[in-house]
Amino acid sequence: MEKTMGTLETIVSRPLLLMIAGAKGAIGSTLAVASYMLRHQPDLIAPYLTSARLWNDGGAFGEVHVAGWDVSQAAMGDALARHGVVPETLWQVVADQLNHLPIVPAPEATMPLNAQVDQVMRDMATFRQARPEAQPVLVNLLPACPGCSLSGKASGDDRSTGRFPDLAYARAAIRSGVPVVNFTPNALGDADLVALAAEQGLPLVGRDGKTGQTYFKVVLASALKARRLRVDGWYSLNILGNADGRNLMDPDCARGKLANKTELLDEVLGYRVGEAYGESTHKVHIDYYPPRGDAKEAWDVIDIKGLFGLPMSIRVNLQGRDSILAAPMVLDLARWVVLLQAAGRGGAIPELGFFFKKPEGEPAAATFEDQLRQLSELEAFCRRRLAG
Ligand SMILES: NC(=O)c1ccc[n+]([C@@H]2O[C@H](COP(=O)([O-])OP(=O)(O)OC[C@H]3O[C@@H](n4cnc5c(N)ncnc54)[C@H](O)[C@@H]3O)[C@@H](O)[C@H]2O)c1
Repeated sequence: MEKTMGTLETIVSRPLLLMIAGAKGAIGSTLAVASYMLRHQPDLIAPYLTSARLWNDGGAFGEVHVAGWDVSQAAMGDALARHGVVPETLWQVVADQLNHLPIVPAPEATMPLNAQVDQVMRDMATFRQARPEAQPVLVNLLPACPGCSLSGKASGDDRSTGRFPDLAYARAAIRSGVPVVNFTPNALGDADLVALAAEQGLPLVGRDGKTGQTYFKVVLASALKARRLRVDGWYSLNILGNADGRNLMDPDCARGKLANKTELLDEVLGYRVGEAYGESTHKVHIDYYPPRGDAKEAWDVIDIKGLFGLPMSIRVNLQGRDSILAAPMVLDLARWVVLLQAAGRGGAIPELGFFFKKPEGEPAAATFEDQLRQLSELEAFCRRRLAG
């Protein structure tokens, strides 16, 4: 096996450089504040990071720096005020620093793909020059929009024109030797890109962060399966009023997200829910509801059957906060990909399925128990490879 890039202690203590596509969005701007807080008020952030518990064996945890791209020209402070995710009292004191983060314009959508890739690569080089000590990670937080991604659309031809923002960022990252976290539901890589990432030892992980309703769905479905309580139907409703919610009102944009949210239930349970009715009785709806902003609410009605086929029912009501749930997971994933890169793992990492609705790569575990087991095995792998 090839040499690793340091020991666990040296890697977790080095700073991270998050290069975020969609840096002024609800999650991106929350991450920008969280990166400052980690330095100045770590007690507000570190206790909520699974990676801090896992990897920081009492030692120093590296700082997190934010850079990136957005189509929005608004100042970061204005973006934060508009999203209304982080209380103003928390970010106003550092508004000046936040407004001066290196967030540059996104490549023009009308440019050929190869020109977009070149521009992003130049930007990445500039961000890295300013933080030479930091370990870079590309974080994809672009809007959900399958029509913009490679999937079923472009051939990957470098001369093609059109909107391929996800692909441009991912391709630029892999060519620049940077690992990728794809938190969006968008399919990022064609097989060639994933193969190139594997060849270069760069993790390319995704997709679609499993933050709220779907996370608890996997937990509950796994518990029902373990007790052999048969799921007869599962009705899920989400109301949210942020930009992601508005975007998901477009059926083309919602298609991938709904598929990711729907398919995994049958995979967890090992049978088709609704088979007896001749159609799926797992229904998932997303509704844009402006009064809620980022404070998403999810309702689940779960119909189950027990002994003698007698029916029972469960209600789950999650009153969450989309970006507050998402941001720490992005920080955790950035730490994971850097460790995996150092440990010599590249390409898709299906063992990170704990974090995603649609884990890339094979074999990805479906049940909560199996996902936790895979994560522990991945941890053991990193610890073995990065032992001092
Ligand atoms: N919040 C969650 O719980 C959650 C869970 C799973 C997946 N996601 C996904 O994460 C992604 C980000 O979510 P969000 O709530 O931050 O979305 P958002 O709409 O608030 O932010 C997206 C940002 O991307 C910017 N943008 C658009 N096109 C761009 C381009 N070509 N280059 C650079 N920037 C561009 C927008 O201006 C905006 O600032 C979405 O795809 C969402 O579906 C979120």
